[in-house]
Amino acid sequence: CRKCADIVCFRQQTVFGTGPLNPTVCFMGEAPGAEEDRSGQPFVGRAGQLLTKIIEAMQLKRDDVFILNALKCRPPQNRTPVPEEIEHCNPFVATQLEILQPKYIVCLGAVAVRSLLGLTLSVGSLRGRFHQYRQARVVVTYHPSYLLRNESAKKLVWQDMQMLMLE
Ligand code: URA
Repeated sequence: CRKCADIVCFRQQTVFGTGPLNPTVCFMGEAPGAEEDRSGQPFVGRAGQLLTKIIEAMQLKRDDVFILNALKCRPPQNRTPVPEEIEHCNPFVATQLEILQPKYIVCLGAVAVRSLLGLTLSVGSLRGRFHQYRQARVVVTYHPSYLLRNESAKKLVWQDMQMLMLE
């Protein structure tokens, strides 16, 4: 794909996602960062290490869940993806989820929410209850990068993961 003119000349590779078919839970982030762009794997940098901790605290293994991003390519300097870039990547996300058929999707941050649910509301106003995407129940919570900057939001993310685990 070469639709995003500002991205395509800087990316090393696409980062499509990792995990099993028919996962119970899918985690959806924003876009690859520098380490993800280098390695081809999603969530392997600092935010990724925190995501792995969250997954393991849920008594799951990272290999049991599917991890993907709204954007498959790294925006230069890790800037926030613009709406047009999210739209360019949407058909890939939609096809991916159609094949994967997850039972639950966790949207990590506002870009994942915009991509999956088409909503531009804040994470704070959407978290704490279930949403729906086709057959999947959707949980909205804060992005791990946000947690690295705002320790106090960790307890809210943990509440959201407990809501999911109760199901
Ligand atoms: N942040 C994301 O949203 N995705 C990654 O893969 C890494 C960091």
